[in-house]
Amino acid sequence: MSRRPVNPTRRLGDGGSIPFVATIQDKSRNSPLLSIGLVVVGAILLIGYCYSSSGGASSGIKDVSKLEGGASCTAEVLQALPVLKKAYGDSLHKVLHVGPDSCSLVSSLLKEEDTEAWGIEPYELDDVSAKCKKLVRKGVVRVADIKFPLPYRPKSFSLVIVSDALDYLSPRYLNKTLPELARVSSDGIVIFSGYPGQQRARGGEVAKFGRPAKLRSSSWWIRFFVQSSLEENESAIKKFEQASTKRAYKPACQVFHLKSYP
Ligand SMILES: *[C@@H]1O[C@H](CO)[C@@H](O)[C@H](O)[C@H]1NC(C)=O
Ligand SMILES: *[C@@H]1O[C@H](CO)[C@@H](O)[C@H](O)[C@H]1NC(C)=O
Repeated sequence: MSRRPVNPTRRLGDGGSIPFVATIQDKSRNSPLLSIGLVVVGAILLIGYCYSSSGGASSGIKDVSKLEGGASCTAEVLQALPVLKKAYGDSLHKVLHVGPDSCSLVSSLLKEEDTEAWGIEPYELDDVSAKCKKLVRKGVVRVADIKFPLPYRPKSFSLVIVSDALDYLSPRYLNKTLPELARVSSDGIVIFSGYPGQQRARGGEVAKFGRPAKLRSSSWWIRFFVQSSLEENESAIKKFEQASTKRAYKPACQVFHLKSYP
């Protein structure tokens, strides 16, 4: 015999809440103080709701980290956004994000002024929000395996931002994917990648991404860029560092700035 787990929302709806309401009504009839209390609580909840819904980027950050359930460089991109704006200025007007939880990041980027944003979600989307489904339906976010050529013309985007995704690729595939990222961008690629030894969400990771993340050192990455004839963008590195210092921002992920192909 199989037992189905009880759905807690069903249980509440099935009558659990009715006695609760009755109790409140009972008491409020007897005590005017309680009804005043309820009005005050209601007002506080309403104000709280208004504040949280105007939270914009900060609520976006929460969404991302919640989805990932652990350290996430996609969430880090949002934290770094003001610094990226300083380093890239106008180049941030047409952005492609590549990485897990792309929907959350793209929705946040679309709230920015003068920013168009698209996303590539490299892995199956399971259990996504209605908002994400809408972005996918409109083709703003695509689910695509980044081991294969990207479905965009050369220089389709000013800036390509990648988070987490490359950590799951072996050097053989990186060799194909990195030049693709350079091909579809015009003003550069920004790579957010985990530090070696960084704690990652483990649950279902291998099932979802095909292999566990391999977090490589910065010297490994730099050697790989040189091998693939991709140059670091010194001016972007410098501007990013200056803006980080000014805002006392310390990235929780490694950040690399590469040039697009001329
Ligand atoms: C990647 O490409 C570089 C240069 O084209 C080559 O030297 C290197 O062996 C390649 N690595 C792999 C794992 O295919
Ligand atoms: C280097 O970065 C700057 C932003 O700091 C950007 O405007 C420029 O286009 C980048 N250069 C290349 C070749 O990607």
